[in-house]
Amino acid sequence: MGEPIIEARGLSKRYGAVSAVRDISFSIRPGETLGVLGPNGSGKSTIVKMITGLVEPSRGLVLFRGVRIEADQACYKRSFGYVPEQPDLYGFLTGWEYLDLVATLREIPPRIFREKAAAMLEGFTLYPHRDSPIASYSKGMRQRIVLIAALMHDPELLVLDEPFSGLDVTSALVTRLVVELLAAKGKAVFFSSPVLEQVEKMCTHLVVLKRGSVVASGPIGEMQAGFAGQSLEAGFMQLTEQVDAGRIAENIAAAALAPAR
Ligand SMILES: Nc1ncnc2c1ncn2[C@@H]1O[C@H](COP(=O)(O)OP(=O)(O)OP(=O)(O)O)[C@@H](O)[C@H]1O
Ligand SMILES: [Mg+2]
Repeated sequence: MGEPIIEARGLSKRYGAVSAVRDISFSIRPGETLGVLGPNGSGKSTIVKMITGLVEPSRGLVLFRGVRIEADQACYKRSFGYVPEQPDLYGFLTGWEYLDLVATLREIPPRIFREKAAAMLEGFTLYPHRDSPIASYSKGMRQRIVLIAALMHDPELLVLDEPFSGLDVTSALVTRLVVELLAAKGKAVFFSSPVLEQVEKMCTHLVVLKRGSVVASGPIGEMQAGFAGQSLEAGFMQLTEQVDAGRIAENIAAAALAPAR
């Protein structure tokens, strides 16, 4: 098991009158994968930004190996690999140039960079596209190049905000298997997703969010058992929003179909 690699204690974030995240605590030990599941706007990215030090919590703290992340931000930044929800990529750089830039910033020696980058580009089927500008990449290709960039320096913590977004079935499967292999080597993984199916497959621990608050959390096996008789999916639907999707869709379609002039 070991000591937690990362721990969040009582994290809250307010944006003016909006309470984006309320009193969230968790810890991730080596080999564990924490999946944060919640609908759009439930606070997933806000948690991600707080644990990566990009956004200051209104309350609470984040500990990396027992030390507050503000204590040595440069050291902390070297320790994790981050896949943001909407990465800012320099479209004029080629995939290779982008990875080279990241490797330089990460102080990875050129020979090691070339070997790692080539192998990962090959695996994620981007090698033939390495010399094309990122602006020409599809959404899924961008997602994969950002993942490679996040993995190159062999971080002990992975923070992945909706890592499957835009990925086709094969890429999503390869990504999940890679994360599982890294976790098996003792990495700690935090990832978010609005899709239960993805979270359930990959995580050892689950946090379910609703409007910024935790409505359920625990080891995935216990969570599945806790919804005895009903699937985790039915439980998740109950925990989060209950909407009449059919009626909402009818209203939207009726508005769209109303005469436009
Ligand atoms: N910079 C900001 N300023 C004001 N409000 C914000 C800001 N960032 C997030 N919020 C609000 O905080 C809440 C949570 O947003 P967040 O982006 O964390 O949700 P999410 O779960 O990641 O959603 P999604 O699934 O759409 O990515 C939302 O109500 C959002 O409008
Ligand atoms: Mg988000």
